[in-house]
Amino acid sequence: MPISVLLGAQWGDEGKGRITDAIAQDADIVARFNGGDNAGHSITIGKTVVKLHMVPSGIFRDRCVNVIGNGVVLNPRNLLKEIAEIRAAGIPVTPERLKISPAAHIILPGHIALDAAREATKGGIGTTQRGIGFAYMDKASRIGIRAGAMADPEQFAERVREHTLAVNQQLEMIYARAPIDADTVAAEYAKAAMELRAHLADTVTLLHDALSANKKILAEGAQATLLDIDHGTYPYVTSSSASIGGVMTGLGVPPQAITRIIGVAKAFATRVGAGPFPTELSGEMATRLRGTGSNPWDEFGSTTGRPRRVGWLDLVALRHVIRINGIQELAITKLDILSGLPQLNVATSYQCDGVGTRAMPQDSETLARCAPIYTTLVGWSDDVQGARSMGELPLACRDYVRKIEAESGAHISLVSVGPEREQLIQTK
Ligand code: IMP
Repeated sequence: MPISVLLGAQWGDEGKGRITDAIAQDADIVARFNGGDNAGHSITIGKTVVKLHMVPSGIFRDRCVNVIGNGVVLNPRNLLKEIAEIRAAGIPVTPERLKISPAAHIILPGHIALDAAREATKGGIGTTQRGIGFAYMDKASRIGIRAGAMADPEQFAERVREHTLAVNQQLEMIYARAPIDADTVAAEYAKAAMELRAHLADTVTLLHDALSANKKILAEGAQATLLDIDHGTYPYVTSSSASIGGVMTGLGVPPQAITRIIGVAKAFATRVGAGPFPTELSGEMATRLRGTGSNPWDEFGSTTGRPRRVGWLDLVALRHVIRINGIQELAITKLDILSGLPQLNVATSYQCDGVGTRAMPQDSETLARCAPIYTTLVGWSDDVQGARSMGELPLACRDYVRKIEAESGAHISLVSVGPEREQLIQTK
């Protein structure tokens, strides 16, 4: 039955694209419900690597309809670039295959300029500088421009021009930055609207019709619960609902239509940008887990190229995420990266202000004072990339997976053991 949800269970970059790709095989619709082009993952089509930021990954499956839901913030300029790249890889992107909710909000150059300007001050948190926070700010302030406005490119252009002029005042007066040429931006966005308006569709009705017809829908989350505006490590978070609540608000579907909730977690932990990270590593072990950047799977941001902070798997944080979202199933990614390490640590509790706790504190100041209490497991030396069943994994590796299962309380249904599509173990 109808909606499966795929959520990031850490600080993003868990390899959700990889798992979506496996699950989207039999989906009729793949829908994005939150975030914008701050997300990113690469898909390899033959010899071409396509980076997806906005377009749902069902675009690579012939019969799949892809929805950009109302909870998303959309940058028309970057979306057109992405569509062009997908087409260049030989994949058709038509209005029948890509639908945009008229209620999604538009990211404008002014939002991006403000994001960059604020990041340069001491209030910066290490955003992706895609204008995400400022676009959601306008949405919450009820002054945002929605995608539906693109239906009338001329009027849309006028609103874009007005927005840019208003932002210019802030750029000049608050941040002492150069203004943006409002007329040039307006003209560019009018052109973008002409190209994108054919994709506007009543996505709520589309999804409800699909539910009535018992079609399979995959709701694809961007970012992750620990970056969620409410449940993440505020203020070091993104500005959208990246957890389960975002599916309902970001798509307009009811909770009882959700029948499967899958969390994706890496076999270790990473985070980009500022904010508390109890199990963070530095030195040689960090370099080992991060990789050099020469492989596409190394721990460097796919949107910004920034080196990611890396650490041991944090099972306290994972339990928190599982609870909030009602995650029943976990997909564990990048297990192969741990091969060859003699010992592995996983945090099973924290020591916080002299007190031991198994619960993740809700505020970042307290979390920053928490020291992880580790359980140490024996590592494995064999390469696991050839394994296609749990039985083919070394015993110590199986123990590591079972430890995650036992501590988190969620069933591990998928384990990825390498970057290729088929390097995946279905445990049941
Ligand atoms: P923003 O979403 O660009 O406003 O950035 C806010 C925070 O979320 C920063 O710490 C970013 O590094 C982080 N962030 C946003 N998108 C992603 C993502 O897709 N993966 C990992 N971190 C992200």
